[in-house]
Amino acid sequence: MLDLEARSLRVTAGDIEFLDQTQLPQREAWYPCNTPDQWQAAVTSLAIRGAPLIGLSAALVLARYANEHPSADWQAVSARLRATRPTAVNLMHCLDEMGACFAAGPKAMSQRAAELFAEDRALCQRMAERGAELLVDGDCVLTHCNTGALATAGVGTAIGALAVAHQRGTRLTVFVDETRPLLQGGRLTAWEMADLGIPYELICDSMAASLMAAGRVDKIMVGADRICANGDFANKVGTYMLAVLAHHHKVPFYVVAPYTTVDPQCQSGADIPIEQRNPAEVRGVSGAFGDVSWAPKDAPVWNPAFDVTPAELVTAWILDTGVFKAADIARGVHMMRP
Ligand code: MRU
Repeated sequence: MLDLEARSLRVTAGDIEFLDQTQLPQREAWYPCNTPDQWQAAVTSLAIRGAPLIGLSAALVLARYANEHPSADWQAVSARLRATRPTAVNLMHCLDEMGACFAAGPKAMSQRAAELFAEDRALCQRMAERGAELLVDGDCVLTHCNTGALATAGVGTAIGALAVAHQRGTRLTVFVDETRPLLQGGRLTAWEMADLGIPYELICDSMAASLMAAGRVDKIMVGADRICANGDFANKVGTYMLAVLAHHHKVPFYVVAPYTTVDPQCQSGADIPIEQRNPAEVRGVSGAFGDVSWAPKDAPVWNPAFDVTPAELVTAWILDTGVFKAADIARGVHMMRP
């Protein structure tokens, strides 16, 4: 397999390693991800996370497995990987691409996994450039969860747009939602903003409304885990709340994603499976900073990892394939590749 390198995933002499995102920003620790079991453990704990990265890492692990076990049932392994996180469709996209190579054999699978990796880097760049064009000097942009280099093979999706605009000299301030329960904003996006040199302020999720009411948010840019044919989309829980607030306060609300996040089989948001996660994530927090639990030990919890934002609340979908408005979707333009 070719050597590959991204911010949180790398392949060296055939060995796959990931940067454990649960330990950031306190510790930068890399671990092997050479087997389906290692991959499943890392993806379940969100040590490997972010829609594109989940799919790319699955493709690489499946290719390595096929090379090491040429007569095993690759389809069964693929099915196991597919079931690990149900919402982000990039995982299904990458595994479908690998499945299409089964007949050509393990070498072809390695080649295809490396191509998917390189493609994601290019898709990130394209959508980030499109997104950057919508940002103007002095903009204050609110973002949610983590959509940067950590979550992709390239510059990222929504954060990619911020990074490209910043590199072009557009002065920005970014409001970073901490993103309860797993704090991808407070831990990862804040870290990436500092790394990129973009001025930012960290807020608790519940502060977004008063920030918008005070007129301090010019735009909202978020990523997506699955975009339906009608434009409804799933993203980290809390995104829908921001979209409702943005509508009320007349703040433009943009979704930035690659075509690999579009699922034309899902007609609307009601068709998206939403992952339910461990109640302990809401009863407290864990990380390299330690474990804290504040709720009663058995407090009943509802913990959906994602929510669905209806298309009517979206100003535009910014993809590598173009910038789309509701009117485009209504007249049948689809966001996938032609
Ligand atoms: O549960 P996570 O951390 O994998 O969720 C990630 C998100 O919701 C991101 O916004 C989404 O994957 C887009 S990332 C480029």
